Amino acid sequence: MKVLVTGGAGYIASHTIIELLNAGYEVAAIDNFSNSSMESIRRVEKISGKKISFYEADIQEKDTLCDIIIKEEIKAVIHFAGLKAVGESCSIPLKYFRNNLVGTITLLEVMQECNVKNLVFSSSATVYGEAKTIPITEDYTPLSVTNPYGRTKLMIEEMLQDLYRSDSSWNIAILRYFNPIGAHESGEIGEDPNGIPNNLVPYIAKVAMGELDHIKVYGNDYDTPDGTGIRDYIHVVDLALGHIKAIEKLSQNPGLEIYNLGTGVGYSVLEIIHNYELACGKKLPYTIEARRPGDIAVSYADPSKAFRELGWKAERDIHKMCEDSYRWQSKNPKGYGK
Ligand code: NAD
Ligand code: WQD
Repeated sequence: MKVLVTGGAGYIASHTIIELLNAGYEVAAIDNFSNSSMESIRRVEKISGKKISFYEADIQEKDTLCDIIIKEEIKAVIHFAGLKAVGESCSIPLKYFRNNLVGTITLLEVMQECNVKNLVFSSSATVYGEAKTIPITEDYTPLSVTNPYGRTKLMIEEMLQDLYRSDSSWNIAILRYFNPIGAHESGEIGEDPNGIPNNLVPYIAKVAMGELDHIKVYGNDYDTPDGTGIRDYIHVVDLALGHIKAIEKLSQNPGLEIYNLGTGVGYSVLEIIHNYELACGKKLPYTIEARRPGDIAVSYADPSKAFRELGWKAERDIHKMCEDSYRWQSKNPKGYGK
């Protein structure tokens, strides 16, 4: 069975493609390289020893998408393609709305026309906004967003619900990722942000490499044991494996289902720095700064629905996440050199 992966050259998609190939699926991928390069596809082929049918194109190009789905005889789509920088989405919201919303609508139209109605969608814990109850469950936590990026995820989730209500022959798995970090253990693929990283672990990785001077801890006055923010960090390979389980689930015609993909365990910023120090074998300097606007104190998942219904659970611990992140960063100080 062949799966189309949109945004296939990206961080989470590249790890997912490896696991799809390992599980015996064939893969076609599309990416416009707005945040990636061909190098990740080459490395995925190297690691897996298998070929991917790759298309450099934008998911807003309807005819191209249609041709790919027909020519490749696609049976299911995993839809990763999207812009994802929270801060950038506040300064250029229209670009986010066009890319993420129009891109997704175009993809859904083509899938409907080609009668391919099996979809896994990359959503985010960002749709929970500032959750009042922790751990966060899919059903009982109200949804809200605080920035245009998050709004695109919530709007797409709502579009998918409407689409499913209109036509129950769709099978849709909405996966809400918590904080993906780490890299493939080969050190060949990993996260390669442009410029100075916005997210904690890619930033720490650059401090560990000596490329950035010190870590800025955004706030130590939260209502948490050490005062710093707590998140549910999940190894990207565990996340990738969750997609394989979701694709398997779609073959049982489940309709529309939503799953949290997290570990269920929260770590503070200082705990992450400490674990990264163990992984890289050096002290990492940090300063305490003001809170980052829009940040919340605590977020971690109740991932039990994914365990019950998909038979999936994260296996890789925080040591492995930091170790694999550092291996990738040390082997590729300039990332893919894109
Ligand atoms: P990424 O930027 O590495 O991957 C996204 C890929 O999509 C990139 O390769 C980019 O070039 C491509 N792309 C973007 N717009 C496109 C378009 N119009 N047409 C074709 N390709 C396009 O990001 P990632 O971290 O791998 O995230 C993948 C998905 O998961 C995104 O939808 C993101 O919003 C979501 N997500 C990510 C995180 C996270 O922390 N990394 C958390 C929750 C959800
Ligand atoms: C984690 C913790 C920061 C950087 C973001 C998006 C979310 C999702 C995942 C896509 C927080 C602190 C950070 C730094 C710090 N992405 N921090 N110094 O904000 O939980 O989630 O990525 O869907 O939508 O918002 O992740 O890694 O940026 O921050 O102290 O230099 O680290 O305050 O407590 P976040 P993050």
